[in-house]
Amino acid sequence: MKKVFMIIAAMCMTSVMAFAQKTIRVSTDKTDLVMQVSPKGRLYQVYLGDKLKNPADYQNLKWDVYAASDGAVCQRGHEVYATSGAEDFFEPAVAVTHADGNMTTYLYYKSSEEKAINGGTETIITLQDKVYPLTVKLHYAAYPKENVIKAWSEISHKEKAPVTLWRYSSTMLYFKANKYFVTNYHSDWAKEGQPETCQLTAGKKIVDTKLGTRAAMQEEPFFELGFDEPAKENEGKVMLGTIGWPGNFRFTFEVDNVGALRVIPAINPYASDYKLKAGETFTTPEFIFAMSDNGMGEASRNLHNWARQYQVNMGMEDRLTLLNNWENTGFDFNQQSLAELMKDAKDLGVDMFLLDDGWFANKYPRKDDHAGLGDWEATKSKLPEGIPGLVRDAKKAGVKFGIWIEPEMVNPKSELFEKHPDWVIMQPKRDTYYYRNQLVLDISNPKVQDYVFGIVDRIMTENPDVAYFKWDCNSVITNIYSPYHKENQGNFYIDHVRGIYKVLTRIHNKYPKLPMMLCSGGGGRMDYEMLKYFTEFWCSDDTDPFERIYIQWSLSKFFPAKTMGSHVTNWNKNTSVKFRTDVCSSCKLGFDIDLKSLSKDDYKFVQNAVKNYDSMKPMILEGDQYRLVSPYEGNHCAINYVSKDKQRAVLFAYDLHPRYKEPVMNVKMQGLDADKVYTIKETNLMPGKESDLECNGKQYSGDYLMKVGLNVFSQTDGTSHVLVLE
Ligand code: DGJ
Repeated sequence: MKKVFMIIAAMCMTSVMAFAQKTIRVSTDKTDLVMQVSPKGRLYQVYLGDKLKNPADYQNLKWDVYAASDGAVCQRGHEVYATSGAEDFFEPAVAVTHADGNMTTYLYYKSSEEKAINGGTETIITLQDKVYPLTVKLHYAAYPKENVIKAWSEISHKEKAPVTLWRYSSTMLYFKANKYFVTNYHSDWAKEGQPETCQLTAGKKIVDTKLGTRAAMQEEPFFELGFDEPAKENEGKVMLGTIGWPGNFRFTFEVDNVGALRVIPAINPYASDYKLKAGETFTTPEFIFAMSDNGMGEASRNLHNWARQYQVNMGMEDRLTLLNNWENTGFDFNQQSLAELMKDAKDLGVDMFLLDDGWFANKYPRKDDHAGLGDWEATKSKLPEGIPGLVRDAKKAGVKFGIWIEPEMVNPKSELFEKHPDWVIMQPKRDTYYYRNQLVLDISNPKVQDYVFGIVDRIMTENPDVAYFKWDCNSVITNIYSPYHKENQGNFYIDHVRGIYKVLTRIHNKYPKLPMMLCSGGGGRMDYEMLKYFTEFWCSDDTDPFERIYIQWSLSKFFPAKTMGSHVTNWNKNTSVKFRTDVCSSCKLGFDIDLKSLSKDDYKFVQNAVKNYDSMKPMILEGDQYRLVSPYEGNHCAINYVSKDKQRAVLFAYDLHPRYKEPVMNVKMQGLDADKVYTIKETNLMPGKESDLECNGKQYSGDYLMKVGLNVFSQTDGTSHVLVLE
């Protein structure tokens, strides 16, 4: 019996090979994703991995053919966009209940095309069901130099009545290795980016959230994969992946019966059976991934390069240093005290003063977080001259002015709520559950979209010199019921996020050069779709430098330093101001601290650190980042940045909690030119203090620095060194 089956299987394979119709390649300089159309017209993934050097070899690739349990051979492989109800019994990429109630879909290859896009090539593959007028377009944008691919799908139909979508993944990818390891990042308020690694074995692992307004908090929308072994920094086969969706997301990792790993990144279908009308197109979020044979460091640098050039708003432009007032004043400020802070900002040397929460509402003034959200008029008692007065004071002080908003939210104690209770996501017949005393506006409603757009538009129209927005989002969606969607609640979670995009697109179109920080109760929102509109994000409210080192390490895997806001505050006052500043200087530097409370030396130090940062920015914000010593593997941390021309570099070295008499190893730098000679200069020194590092002022070849390294760690808690190499 077994023999017969093997013969049939072999015959089937041969015939399958003989009739292979079309091969589609999505390629970067180092990665190939190869798909093939079967004789029956279905599309299978036949390869995903290192780029094949010899194009003739593509013909040798084949999809797997498996036997059904009764021994009969059927054509069943790794279908590129597996459907519900077909021969593949694992998690589908797409599932549809058709207008007549039928829940099966079979997709057949129709056509494919390629077009040039900025930085690469986009491949679009059209698939269609033969029984139902349902079309799926698979999009793959490949960026050759950066070795980054982003994939998304479009689903549409021409059935007589709406269909219901209950799976709608961005893409579906298959990997083959002996072992698979995933690192996902769990999280909470002030605890962003906590990595957790496990081996994926037969069956499924799901990483998801159901927070509505944000992807992160609980789980982050990114992960790393290690093939054959857990992902390493500088060696081994790895993949970094992230989805651009600031709402409910779901990553499914499934190891199937033949030991292949299926990765399905998607919007979370939880409570989201989506009714799609004929003629409408359901576009999934982009899934962005980078593969490397040389570990995560290389994959991260590729993502950083790609993000700056092709994804992040003003990704190639400079960033503003700033003084924020949230951790310093909270809600307790007025026009006069802000004018003083603006002068402080100027004296510190930063580019901008950023006014945080607490400046708005009159009937229910925003004295704390119980009232005012929704009423975006400056509080007269606090700010008699409103935003124009603040802009004027900032100008007088010689700094730019930025302002905080939380436009997607409403406090029940607000005029907005009184006027428009039907604009609020709230259960009609149940008790209301408040998250930070507030509720989320129903942005799926076009009227609410107009209102939210109007908040920014009005501030900008009345005050064209406002230079920056911090856009916060402190609540998840609670009391899940959309008054706008009425009996069609299944569409709500998804249309809500799309409503946010509609608003952001309008803002972006009207104010394309307006820098904005994406914030969500700390780092609840960090994703590459939002970064099309935002210039940076706030990584976490946790600014304790020890904790921040871990958070920044994790997030740097996926995002360039230029997008990661990091502010010096009084969290963990026991650490030195130097240590806190040195930690923040490795990202996008800001301050959120009462500068007047600093000692004379500390104040001089921060003034100087701002100047130093300005001169190091080209390396930190535009250069290549190398993560050298992981805080997760010991009691120290080091990273270095190298300018693109390798002429300059900067090394950040931090001692966290070293053990008594712990042996201290040299830090070997990376990414330098081995043949160049670099002069080392320690910077960010306390006033009057000489460097105690032996290497300071000396010259070393890049070769030496990368092979032997420098002795820059100490055995003292909370010590840091910043070294510039020229
Ligand atoms: C949460 C943010 O993370 C903080 O930086 C601050 O802006 C507060 N919201 C204000 O309410």
